[in-house]
Amino acid sequence: MPYASIELSVADRVATITVNRPDKLNALNAATIGELGDAIDEVRHRDDVGGVILTGAGRAFVAGADISELASQTPMQARQRALRGQQIFRRFETSPKPVIAAVNGFALGGGCELAMACHVRIASDAAKFGQPEVKLGICPGYGGTQRLPRLVGMGRALQLLMTGEMVDAAEAHRIGLVNRVVPGGELLGAADAMLRQMLANGPLALSSCIEAVVRGTETSLDDGLNLEANHFALLAGSQDMAEGTRAFLEKRPPVFAGR
Ligand code: COA
Repeated sequence: MPYASIELSVADRVATITVNRPDKLNALNAATIGELGDAIDEVRHRDDVGGVILTGAGRAFVAGADISELASQTPMQARQRALRGQQIFRRFETSPKPVIAAVNGFALGGGCELAMACHVRIASDAAKFGQPEVKLGICPGYGGTQRLPRLVGMGRALQLLMTGEMVDAAEAHRIGLVNRVVPGGELLGAADAMLRQMLANGPLALSSCIEAVVRGTETSLDDGLNLEANHFALLAGSQDMAEGTRAFLEKRPPVFAGR
């Protein structure tokens, strides 16, 4: 599928989605966010893709929703915008294939929210994070008020949300907003290496981990444990479990088929 504001490339089972409006610091206008939705749907369905790296072109990951579009919205348009963005970001979070955000620069507002909807975040040491919406007289609309406290705790989330301050990559790492920080030149290589480490494992096992964690953290502990037991049971019927356990006992690397 041809895209205008993003780029999608696939190399050896790794899809890289690059937000590509560098002159506007990759701000998410309606068209760009729609293309992100199309791209995640495409890679979820492509048999030649095992996992996804999401990054930005130039000096930003994503500097937020496009403020020029926000400036004139009515309440109903704003609600529709929030619901649409939330639904598209949710497709990243619920992807059965792992999605790693490689945060190369500014991840502000919708950019921080997009990174938080990915399964893992690796940041360049030049990256900056923040939810500056309050400076515009609005609150986050793409999940920031919900995912930020889940990642960093309520107190830190409220501090970031209400000051609108930016934090650097080291601070983002300290508070648990990002998994790893690497020098900028090593960012895509580090994301690729981590994704390939994941993709060496059983694909069904990966999607079970994602679903059990993403759905499980939204429910009671008992319901989450039940969900985990169901995934554990389903995998017991898979060729991948047979192969993984047999390979261990035969002291050889497993070859998973995703069945
Ligand atoms: N929406 C629309 N355009 C944006 C944007 C956004 N969220 N963020 C940056 N841009 C545009 C700027 O308007 C500018 O466009 P122009 O060259 O046509 O004037 C271009 O991107 C470069 O940004 P600029 O502000 O000149 O770069 P900077 O290095 O001085 O500052 C930031 C970088 C990220 C600090 C600053 O751009 C910023 O604060 N952006 C808004 C962040 C924000 O509030 N996001 C949440 C939105 S809800």
